[in-house]
Amino acid sequence: MSAEQDPVKLMKQQVGQAAADLVKSGSIVGLGTGSTTAYAIEYLGKRLQSGDLKDIKGIPTSFQASVLAKEYGIPLTTLDEVDRIDIAIDGADEVDPQKNLIKGGGAAHTREKIVDALAEQFVVVVDGSKLVDRLGSTFLLPVEVLPMAMTPVMRAIEKLGGKPQLRMGVKKAGPVVTDEGNLVIDVKFDSIDNPGELEKTLNNIPGVLENGLFVGVADVVLIGEIQDGKPIVRQM
Ligand code: A5P
Repeated sequence: MSAEQDPVKLMKQQVGQAAADLVKSGSIVGLGTGSTTAYAIEYLGKRLQSGDLKDIKGIPTSFQASVLAKEYGIPLTTLDEVDRIDIAIDGADEVDPQKNLIKGGGAAHTREKIVDALAEQFVVVVDGSKLVDRLGSTFLLPVEVLPMAMTPVMRAIEKLGGKPQLRMGVKKAGPVVTDEGNLVIDVKFDSIDNPGELEKTLNNIPGVLENGLFVGVADVVLIGEIQDGKPIVRQM
């Protein structure tokens, strides 16, 4: 199956383009991480190249985002050099009906939360498979942890009723190491009844940098779906 015919890719492309279309000239733009946001970064680059969009600067949420931004000609800046982020575009691993999210499938959730939470408008881009009634039902909750604190953090998570597992690399021996040089523990909770409370409780364990619960951060959720064989984008 070619890339053009793959329905999941088509949905991601459409939703990424729809988010990139929301960016106005002169904006500071948070550039998210993952395969869906990659399309948004690509379209931002195309808009810059065509002259439809001018004078934007990106703040990358990961090494991946900064590599893509350079590839597509988007100038980058840092949080030290700006006093605002106008819009951030980022993917998610799960979205609940209240627009709360689980993120961190790409191990980038710490920087993503810093950038996405600072943005005046945080736009989430997902395909329909990411929608859930309750967070934690399909995806384990990622927690970034300082390497020396891995064992005590895992014990503390077990005491909270979670089942932690260290994320291991693919095509790399040993664990996944984040862009900040830390480890990721993926946690199965039987049920996440109060995401806001769990977000704070986990972040209060010494050694935890950040967890993947994004509660009350998303402003707009754009969903890519296939309807009558064609990709469409709807807003939650
Ligand atoms: C990165 O750490 C994640 O938060 C991603 O934003 C998330 O995994 C979505 O990625 P995809 O768009 O590839 O599904």
